[in-house]
Formats: sequence, structure tokens, C-alpha cells
Amino acid sequence: MRNSNLDIHPVTGMIGAEILGIDLGADHPDSVYAEIRNALNEHGVIFFRDQTLPTDKYVEFGQKFGTLIASKFIPTLPDYPLVAEIRKEADQDRNVGGAWHTDNPYREIPPMGTILYAQEIPDHGGDTCFINMGAAYDALSDGLKKTLGQLRGVHSNAQVYGKLARADKRGNPSMINLDQAAQEVTHPVVVTHPESGRKVLFVSPSYTPRFEGWTEEESRPLLQFLFDHVKRPEFACRFRWQPGSIAFWDDRQTLHYAVNDYTGTRRIMHRLMVQGLGPLG
Ligand code: SIN
Repeated sequence: MRNSNLDIHPVTGMIGAEILGIDLGADHPDSVYAEIRNALNEHGVIFFRDQTLPTDKYVEFGQKFGTLIASKFIPTLPDYPLVAEIRKEADQDRNVGGAWHTDNPYREIPPMGTILYAQEIPDHGGDTCFINMGAAYDALSDGLKKTLGQLRGVHSNAQVYGKLARADKRGNPSMINLDQAAQEVTHPVVVTHPESGRKVLFVSPSYTPRFEGWTEEESRPLLQFLFDHVKRPEFACRFRWQPGSIAFWDDRQTLHYAVNDYTGTRRIMHRLMVQGLGPLG
């Protein structure tokens, strides 16, 4: 890693890096948080192991990267309204985040990143997968890049949470405010990453039903092409959680997918979301 004192180990050729030997609960100079931020911009998702942060310290760590934003649909910890608890009990079938998505793209200003801290994890299973949407963009033809560069995508939370509001509640992890899932915004389909300047695709199977000004039927073939394209293993990495693991992903340049292969075991994660710098352009 250029100009960094951090011990950074990329996990694939395209996305993800582990940062070793740092205690995120300790006080560090601002330069260390700037280096972590650089690593996030460069690798899309960064991973830390063996952390033992009390919740206060975890919140303080998140605040080093911007204003934290509260989760609307995922319950939060009783004394920590900015810490969402993603809990799947042993008797629940469905999980949170079990489809490719970025977090909260239905906000006018989507988050810059999400931080997830493993509290209780299954002995095996429950991994999280990530895609580098900049690499996926780079691999498209110039012709398609030009077409996509003129389009805006509609991002809707009704697709995910509205469906859950209408679904049979049995087997679901707990959610709140599902009756408020009716938010729709648009963002460019090709976004310039506000910190690295890299062009990235900004659409996801979970939240993007159509292009602005197009019907869902008209949008589906091109969106489906993009959703299939981005899933190429070359653009992806998979993170195996251990007790104390923390993942920090950049919501502006990645998608993620929580693998739901551990029914019968409990999994609990604490999630922070960091506000983006402004509307995506
Ligand atoms: C999420 O989609 O934000 C949660 C991912 C996970 O639980 O692995």
C-alpha cells in the first residue's frame, strides 16, 4: 500500500484487504484514520480481526469517518440509536441482506460506508460477499459505458422492505417501520466516486427496479445483464467472520451479500452507517 504505515494485505486481485495489528479501540492520531480511509477507497472493503471494542468505542471509531446515520428498518440497540443490531435467531429462516445490494441507496445522499462488527457468529457459514463495482464498470464495452453514462437508476426501498411488510412474518428477522417503505430516489447509473474519482456502476438487484423514464419491463433486460455481469467471481471476495471481526465497506463502490446458510444457529452483528459526502454524481 502506498504511503501507509498500516499493515495491509489485499485478499484478492480486485477487492478487499485485511488490515492487521491495529486495535481500533485505542486512540490513534488523525493520520491513522486518514490511512484507513485511503485503504477503504483503494480496496472497497477492509477487514480487521480480533477487535474488543465496547459499544461506545465502536461508535467513536465510526465517527472518525463522518456523521453516523440511524437505520430506519433494522432495530437499534436500546442505548445506542446509531447502532443497528442485525440478529438472526436459530429458528428464523430469512436473513437481512441476503441478496446483492448496497446499503440505503434510496436516500438522497447514500451512505459512504457501513461498518459491521461480529458479536455472535455461527461456527461455519454466515459469510459476507462483496463485489467491486468499479472493476465491473471497467470490464464493460465503450459502447455500453456510453449508454449507461446517460441513464439514472431509480432506487426504491419498497422492493425490499415493502415486500417484507406484506409477507408472512414467521421466519423473518425482526424489522421496524416497514409501513414506511415507500422511498424512491434516482442516482446516475455510472457514478464518479467522490474520493478516488473512479467510475463505478451504481445499481443493485435489491433496490433498482428500473431506469428513470423507463418502465420496469423496458429496464429489466439491461438491468439483468448488469446484475449478471457484476457477479463474475473476478470482481468479488468472500469474508469469513471470526469472533471480533470488523468489516468496513464503501457503499459507493461495492455491493455485498449476506450468505444465508446457517439456519439453526444464531448470528448477531452490530452495524454503523456513515453519511455520504453529498449527492452522487
Ligand atoms: C447488511 O446487508 O448490511 C448485513 C450484511 C451481513 O450481515 O453480513
